[in-house]
Amino acid sequence: KELGRAPSKCVGPEYKSSHEKPTATVSTEIPHENVHILPQTSQLISLLTMIRDKNTKRADFIFYSNRIIRLLVEEGLNHLPVQQHTITTPVGRTYNGVKFEGKICGVSIMRAGESMEQALRECCRSVRIGKILIQRDEETSQPRLFYDKLPEDISDRWVLLLDPMLATGGSALMAVDVLLSKGVPEERILFLNLIASPEGAANFSKRFPKLRVVTAFVDEGLDEKNYIVPGLGDFGDRFYTL
Ligand code: PRP
Ligand code: URA
Repeated sequence: KELGRAPSKCVGPEYKSSHEKPTATVSTEIPHENVHILPQTSQLISLLTMIRDKNTKRADFIFYSNRIIRLLVEEGLNHLPVQQHTITTPVGRTYNGVKFEGKICGVSIMRAGESMEQALRECCRSVRIGKILIQRDEETSQPRLFYDKLPEDISDRWVLLLDPMLATGGSALMAVDVLLSKGVPEERILFLNLIASPEGAANFSKRFPKLRVVTAFVDEGLDEKNYIVPGLGDFGDRFYTL
């Protein structure tokens, strides 16, 4: 399979000159306007280095994945609309601020997407969370839909769709079809994702150009088993069972 060329960049704080900084592989750049890649900071790269390492044990994998997921949720929330909100401070002055407008809910693609629920709950108190169980066939890589349970008024909400891995894109596309069939407009879906392949991102953008994707990293490509490379292996296994 064709692999993209992942760029390298000097990574580290600005007070160090570039010859003092290490080089690291950063996200592949892709031309899709609806895909937003987190800033490739030294912190993000060091967290990704931890979870990509095959020698990282489950407890550390969970801890460092949770930190990246928190960054994704915080960035994802920036894509929700806000309205003017002016308040008065305890010293009697006004402050021109904003507040979120509209209702949201999370929807996780089980099993791996459930790992992203905690960060969403930490940021959005008592947020409603729906579930879609889609499993990718290990031989054919084709997704199969088993189950969905979603908030009844989901068509009135902004939906934060959660899945850490976007490989061929088959599972996420199927999940979006479920959401559309429940009346959620495409432009009110925000897909939060940890690692995407260029192929998955392209498939997604082509089918759903109005849906926004927030990802931490676009990798080089897919291997012959449709695993993301360099990737991190099977996210669900490493987070839940290995
Ligand atoms: C993984 C992952 C995505 C899907 C990505 O889940 O969490 O849902 O594969 O692959 P795709 O883009 O090619 O569809 P998997 O079906 O392995 O189940 P799991 O969540 O139980 O690990
Ligand atoms: N699912 C994963 O967990 N990892 C991959 O690389 C592809 C699908």
